[in-house]
Formats: sequence, C-alpha cells, structure tokens
Amino acid sequence: MAESPATPPERPPAAVIGAGAMGTALARRLQDAGYPVAAAISRSERSARELAATVGAGVAASEMGALPTRATLVLLCVPDDQVRCVAASLADTDHPWPRCLVLHTSGALPAAALGPLAEAGATTLSFHPLQAFAEDTSPEAFEGIYVGLEGAEGAVAAGRPLAEALGAHPFVLPEAAKARYHLAASMASNFLVTLAGLAGDILDEATADSREIDGPTGAEALRPLLAGTMRNLQDAPPSAALTGPLARGDEDTVAAHLRVLHTHHPGALPAYAALAAETVQQAARADRLPSDVADRLLTQLADAMDARRESGPGDRGP
Ligand SMILES: NC(=O)c1ccc[n+]([C@@H]2O[C@H](COP(=O)([O-])OP(=O)(O)OC[C@H]3O[C@@H](n4cnc5c(N)ncnc54)[C@H](OP(=O)(O)O)[C@@H]3O)[C@@H](O)[C@H]2O)c1
Repeated sequence: MAESPATPPERPPAAVIGAGAMGTALARRLQDAGYPVAAAISRSERSARELAATVGAGVAASEMGALPTRATLVLLCVPDDQVRCVAASLADTDHPWPRCLVLHTSGALPAAALGPLAEAGATTLSFHPLQAFAEDTSPEAFEGIYVGLEGAEGAVAAGRPLAEALGAHPFVLPEAAKARYHLAASMASNFLVTLAGLAGDILDEATADSREIDGPTGAEALRPLLAGTMRNLQDAPPSAALTGPLARGDEDTVAAHLRVLHTHHPGALPAYAALAAETVQQAARADRLPSDVADRLLTQLADAMDARRESGPGDRGP
C-alpha cells in the first residue's frame, strides 16, 4: 500500500510584537517556515508598518487592541524591561487566550514574566534563540542554532515543533538555570566583540605611525584571525582549539606582552590578566600545560597586577 503523505504540522497565524532586530528576523523566518504572520505590533506605528510590509501582515499597529482574533501564536520580541507591561496590556484585551501560545524571546526572564497572560488562560513560554541578531540579520541565522525553552511542560512541548520549524534545535532549561544560562550566552557573544574591539584598538595604536594609506585597520586585519578561531571552535572543544603563548607555556612571550601592557595599555592589564589566568587554568585542566609552568605563569600575571596597583591604574586606553 502506498504511504499516505504526512500531514503537515499546523501553522497557526502569528502576531509579532516588537518590530526590532529579533522581531524582524523571527517574523521573516516564521513566514519562510509557512506560518502566516497576521500582525506586526510595535511601540511606533512606523516600525510596525515596516515589518508588516516585509512579511505581508494584514495588521500593523501600535496598540495591543489591534491583535487579530485569529492570531493564536503571539511572540513578544520587546526589550526585557517591557515584557511584563506588554504582557499585562495584552491580557487586558479581548482575545481567545486559552487557545494561544504566547512566548517571549528574553534569555534573562522566565516564562513567569508572562503571568497575566497565563492567568488569562494562555500557554506561556520563554523561547530564547541563542544567536546574536542585529538590525539586518538574515532569517537564515536561525538555521542550526539552539533555542532555550523554559516553562510548564505543555508550553515546552508546544515550543519544540516551533523551534524545529525554524531550523533550530530546542533544549529545555529549568527556571532556576535561566540566569546562569543568560550569563553564559552574554559572555560568549558580548565579550568576543569587546575583545575584538580592544585588540583592534591596540593594533591600530601600534601601527598608527607606520600604516600605509590603504593598509588594513586593526579590526580589518584581525577579522580573518577571528574567523579562523571560530572555525577551530566549530570543529573542536575550547580546550583543543586554544593556541598561543599561554597554552604553549611560552613564559618569555607572556612576559613581553605584560611589559607592553604595562608601558602602553595599563588600563587593559586587568582584563588581560583575568583572561590569561583563566586561559592558563583551562590549559592546565586539559593537560596542555604542566602544573609547574601553569603556576609560574599565574605568578607572572599576579606580579604584573601587583606592579600596576603600585604604579596606579592608568586609563583603559590602548
Ligand atoms: N538581538 C538579539 O541578539 C537577541 C537575541 C536573543 C534574544 N533577544 C531578545 O529579544 C528581545 C528583543 O530584543 P531586540 O534585540 O530585538 O531589541 P530591539 O532591536 O531594540 O527591538 C525591540 C523592539 O521592541 C519595540 N518595543 C519597545 N517597547 C515596546 C512596547 N512597550 N510595546 C511594543 N513594542 C515595543 C521597539 O519598538 P519601536 O521600534 O516601534 O520603537 C523595537 O522595535 C529582548 O527580550 C532580547 O533579550 C535578542
């Protein structure tokens, strides 16, 4: 007997609230995945109209009351500090909440931030895509990423197929883990950018007097290095992807770096020393460094910080 074609999963009409970086990428990805986007609602009507035009939503508004009855998948993509008040405003509207899945995309807040909507009967979920979305991030950025789901069992069960439809891998988080989960996500994404900025500034300053007119800026020169490091991280755990003088136990080179920091960038020394100590400890735990070399490197770093404290903090600047 011929197999009957699989029934396509239901794609309920969606309403996206908050037409910023996340809301725009999510709305576009939902549309690509076959979810009709019925409404775009944002603080300003202009943002709502732009997003509605992008995804062909029939409703563009700045009022929660404009939420169309048929939208039973409601996605709050507003800043974290707006989630609770938007949830309260939505709960005041006449909407078939018991038929709705309502989610927010904040990594820091629990599903309980949608309390008024849960009280109105909605299934409420924290649905956090582990990805960095800027203004023009393509909807393909959802492909292969992880989405942290937190909420009651039924809500998590409803969130799984949604994440999968976006091309992402769902994984469940207990409410108590959310703060640490968000800390980890922020460190991985934000500090990488901070370090790229700091390293670029140091390189710019080092080459300020010698750079050819069409030579690369520090940030440009470091970009392929950063990309190569990211590729290494995709293929191997951090302990194996680690390279450089700290992981090699090259004490003379580390001493030279510390002298440069002391002389030219004293304000950057605490960040360097803290990250270098963490690097040494990770390398030692992974048996990449003998313990006596690790101890000597940690002493070198602590001595450099003591010397900085004695001579005054200086500024951060490169
Ligand atoms: N961007 C990321 O990388 C990322 C990653 C994971 C999770 N998230 C989460 O996604 C959420 C949104 O972040 P985002 O980066 O997209 O922020 P964003 O670019 O600043 O966009 C926020 C949008 O919300 C709208 N808004 C603000 N207050 C509102 C209100 N009271 N009612 C209705 N709309 C309101 C703004 O409207 P107007 O434009 O109309 O003024 C803006 O378009 C946050 O919870 C964030 O933690 C973001």
